[in-house]
Amino acid sequence: MFPVNKPTPLKLRIPEGWPQPYDIFKDNPLTEEGFLLGRKLFYDGRLSKDGKFPCSSCHEQHAAFATFDHDFSHGFGGEFTDRNAPALQNMAWVNLYNWDGAFSTLEAQAVSPITAPNEMAENMDSVVLKIRKDKEYRDMFKKAFGSKEITPDRMLKALAQFSGMLVSSDSKYDRVMRGEDSFNSAEQNGYEIFKLHCEACHKEPLFTDNSFRNNGLKPDPQVPDYGRVKVTDDPADSFKFRVPSLRNLGVTQPFMHDGRFYTIPKSIEHYLSGIYNSPTLDSLLRKPIVLTEREKYNLTQFLYSLTDSVFIQNPAFKP
Ligand code: HEC
Ligand code: HEC
Repeated sequence: MFPVNKPTPLKLRIPEGWPQPYDIFKDNPLTEEGFLLGRKLFYDGRLSKDGKFPCSSCHEQHAAFATFDHDFSHGFGGEFTDRNAPALQNMAWVNLYNWDGAFSTLEAQAVSPITAPNEMAENMDSVVLKIRKDKEYRDMFKKAFGSKEITPDRMLKALAQFSGMLVSSDSKYDRVMRGEDSFNSAEQNGYEIFKLHCEACHKEPLFTDNSFRNNGLKPDPQVPDYGRVKVTDDPADSFKFRVPSLRNLGVTQPFMHDGRFYTIPKSIEHYLSGIYNSPTLDSLLRKPIVLTEREKYNLTQFLYSLTDSVFIQNPAFKP
């Protein structure tokens, strides 16, 4: 018998003090080889019709895997996506993906960008045919899954291993929480304000409670995005979106599901003077929030402390 090379098991890093993640690798055992294959696929233009739109064209590492400086992202044929590309970070602590929670696994989510005509405009079988021609891929699939067979299922599993491993937990905020650093007085005051007005939805340490809520954005009169109701068909979910994590806000601009705000202060200002009343507006935001100029500044400084420069430069996540 020839020795069989088993892939090397990999463990998801669970930062100190964080809740247990969801068991997203239950049917997709995480391995070094699976992760490396997923990384290659993530950066590979061949997953898109014209070769120009790999996952990484919209999910850029320097922007915590969001699209930097674009409200909507460019996809195939110069068309735009319907929503702002979210950061890909700490995905194992999320149970429903996309702004409206349309998908419950990373594997299912990834089919949508690959096949959407305004994103990668491909189909799974055609991608498989393209990458099968590449010997390096055949070897990598063999190492990751035990045989050279390239299937859509294996491709999606590998992509999920890469995106599920993107853990961001080394911001200044994290160092302060671990007792390795301290906030300056502006950040400390900003943190107090945050706990008072924002924490209920943007819950630490992930800065989201993963719930769907209406935070009072005025719907676009031309193309209203109804949010969660598209998935549940329940009118009570109209204009609700998944509470996004605020980690890495300093590099993920613009903000909100449609990228309507280009700066952190503009996003804060929304909560002070821009709340649009509608039947599904969250009860927490029905009472006005009042902050002084100094407090707004301090809150902004606190939010900047959530930027994780280790994460956005981590060589393990580069192509
Ligand atoms: C053309 C731009 C574009 C490309 C290419 C793209 N995405 Fe996305 N991605 C988006 C947008 C926009 C959303 C938000 C969709 C929504 O909420 O309706 C998103 C959402 C996601 C999410 C959900 C994140 C969350 O917080 O719920 C994951 C995971 C993801 N993409 C992974 C991928 C992978 C893997 C690929 C490659 C197979 C990929 N994306 C390719 C634009 C893109
Ligand atoms: C009632 C729950 C709730 C409260 C309280 C709340 N938010 Fe939000 N926040 C949301 C939701 C939901 C979204 C996504 C809205 C959308 O895009 O439609 C969001 C989005 C954001 C974004 C955009 C993030 C991104 O990546 O696009 C920022 C910034 C933000 N909130 C900051 C704050 C701050 C600062 C406070 C406190 C002053 C706060 N939020 C209070 C629910 C809340």
